[in-house]
Amino acid sequence: MSRLGIRRRPAVVLAAALAASVPAPGAVAGQEPLNFERYRAAVEPVFLADRGGWGPGRAPCVTCHAEQGTPLRLQRLRETADGEVYWSEEDSRRNFEVVSRLVTPGDPDGSRLLRKALTVPAGGAPFHVGGKFFESKSDPEWRAMADWVAAADPVERPAPPRLDFDFFRDCVQRMYLDKRPGDVECIHCHETGARGFARHIPEDRDFWNQEESRGNFAMTRRYVEPGEPMMSRLLTHPLHPAAGGDYFHGGPRRWDSTDDPEWQMLAAWVRGETPECVVGAEADTGGR
Ligand code: HEC
Ligand code: HEC
Repeated sequence: MSRLGIRRRPAVVLAAALAASVPAPGAVAGQEPLNFERYRAAVEPVFLADRGGWGPGRAPCVTCHAEQGTPLRLQRLRETADGEVYWSEEDSRRNFEVVSRLVTPGDPDGSRLLRKALTVPAGGAPFHVGGKFFESKSDPEWRAMADWVAAADPVERPAPPRLDFDFFRDCVQRMYLDKRPGDVECIHCHETGARGFARHIPEDRDFWNQEESRGNFAMTRRYVEPGEPMMSRLLTHPLHPAAGGDYFHGGPRRWDSTDDPEWQMLAAWVRGETPECVVGAEADTGGR
């Protein structure tokens, strides 16, 4: 897979974008919803900024976040004839939607976007596969993002739905074992290791017991964003990219479209519902 080649952006562009994000003296925070124009001017340059290398703590955010189906899922970059990369306005609007779900308007410190790449002593999240980029909250890039969030009115957000464990145990796990024609079952590749959400079943049984199911649930949880099917890697990784799936999966694409009844069922579960169990080749329904 080819990596995105990010051209170093003229420093002046970034500086101008950062300057535009500083609130006017005396401006009162909390008078508006999250602002798209300001997001585009102040936050997107942070995602694109060249950090002089590849890998955690060094690669531009977009290098990982346009390719991997993490909750921060950015659009792929477009490229001009002379190699300058950019997002169209439509791309930016999609990014804005995704990023907006990872912030708490009016509250930078409570925003996942702000905590993830900030070091732990400075108040950041304990862990980020992409590494830590901001040593402190006075980092100008961190501030640019924080000011955008702080300028928005706090809004009451509904608590995320609870995922039905019994449904997971009795139905989602059946999907892990189900083979579609020409494909390999999830368990074939996901029974061990860091992505072992369908752990090995002991020889004398053909399904997981309660404790093993709990383990699978905890692992699966990492790939599920309650309430947000399209931000849940469990649903986007095996989904065809043309239907909004992730650009890459080391395994097969189980669903060609989000209309697949099985995908719809999983989406309902992610939204906190307890749907009818539909596992297997599209029309093949089974009772719970
Ligand atoms: C080397 C790849 C890589 C780079 C570079 C990277 N990330 Fe990430 N990021 C990940 C991966 C993988 C995840 C999902 C696993 C995790 O939560 O650590 C993630 C998760 C996140 C999340 C989701 C947080 C959540 O609560 O689920 C946010 C926000 C985020 N990254 C922000 C950033 C920002 C901002 C940058 C640039 C300053 C950045 N990342 C750079 C790989 C990367
Ligand atoms: C042929 C092997 C194979 C099969 C079968 C397979 N996967 Fe994967 N899967 C992988 C590999 C390899 C990765 C890690 C690379 C990547 O991110 O795609 C992965 C990654 C994932 C991830 C993302 C993990 C992360 O770290 O972000 C999810 C979620 C996932 N698979 C779900 C599934 C589901 C659900 C099924 C069954 C419908 C499935 N996979 C079937 C090989 C497989």
